[in-house]
Amino acid sequence: MPTSSKAEPRLLFIAGSSREKSWNKKLAQLGEKIADANGIKATFADLGDYPMPIYNGDIEVNDGPPENARKLKALMSVHTGIFIASPEYNASFSPLLKNSIDWVSHIKDEGEAPLQVFKTRVFALGAASPGGMGGLRGLAQLRIVLENGLNALVLPDQFVVPKAMEAFDENGHLKNKDNQETFKGVIQKLARAAHLLHG
Ligand SMILES: Cc1cc2nc3c(=O)[nH]c(=O)nc-3n(C[C@H](O)[C@H](O)[C@H](O)COP(=O)(O)O)c2cc1C
Repeated sequence: MPTSSKAEPRLLFIAGSSREKSWNKKLAQLGEKIADANGIKATFADLGDYPMPIYNGDIEVNDGPPENARKLKALMSVHTGIFIASPEYNASFSPLLKNSIDWVSHIKDEGEAPLQVFKTRVFALGAASPGGMGGLRGLAQLRIVLENGLNALVLPDQFVVPKAMEAFDENGHLKNKDNQETFKGVIQKLARAAHLLHG
């Protein structure tokens, strides 16, 4: 696993869906590609590779947090900026994302302040949906959790892809080049903000 460097932003792209053909995975993977093409170190992580039981305090007391929650937290901690592409479920965000966040939020390693991994990263949000609003309403809920629940710094800029079924070409790029430039702008801003916070 790479180590976090103070001098250089490193972005993590994750999606709140583990579905094989997830539009949000496509968006997160595109983000990683754009970052990479613009000289920004980036990693895509599939939450499907970090399965965890639904949070239950008894599991936590009896067995401790799942190993995958520890691994995900470790991955977050070696990146300074995190982009989350979040599916919208009934005007909120996905249970997979909430469960992953909840487990990670309850791990406090020795010498750490509570929620340190959230408080010391910069976040940017995006969404893709087959619907016409692109998952925008779910992002409002996710923002509340990150900002109010976890004291995270979340950029005001966010990027949504409505009508996702028509939006991506066969290489996973956005057909609308203006939209792809807008996404690039959000990624570059995330990298700059991560650099300012950590540099
Ligand atoms: C339980 C459920 C609720 C949904 N609610 C919404 C919604 O409120 N707004 C929306 O745009 N799409 C909604 N959808 C459709 C999802 O946006 C769509 O399934 C999308 O492909 C999920 O993201 P993914 O492709 O990354 O897996 C919902 C889907 C599910 C399964």
